[in-house]
Amino acid sequence: MQIVLVGHVDPVPVQPSDTLLASLLRAGLAFPFSCQNGNCGHCKCELISGEVHELEYSEHALSTAERSRGIVLACRVQPRSAVVIRRID
Ligand code: FES
Repeated sequence: MQIVLVGHVDPVPVQPSDTLLASLLRAGLAFPFSCQNGNCGHCKCELISGEVHELEYSEHALSTAERSRGIVLACRVQPRSAVVIRRID
C-alpha cells in the first residue's frame, strides 16, 4: 500500500496498521500535527480516494460536517488500500 500526497512527487509506503500521519512522518515529509491522538485537529487532510479504517477521535478535532466532506485526521486513519490525500493549509 502507498499514500499519494498531492503536490509531492514520490508515493509514501505504508507499514501495516500505521496511520497516515505515521507513514508520512517516517518518510520525512513535513506535515502538520500536534497531539497525535485525535484531539487537536492539526493533522486534518482531505481524503480524495482510497479505503481507510478510522480510529476514535474527538468531535472537537473533526466535526461531522467536515467528515462528510471527506476531511479526515491523518493521525486517526489507517489506510486499507492505496490512498490519495491533499493537505489542508
Ligand atoms: S495530531 Fe491532533 S488530531 Fe491529529
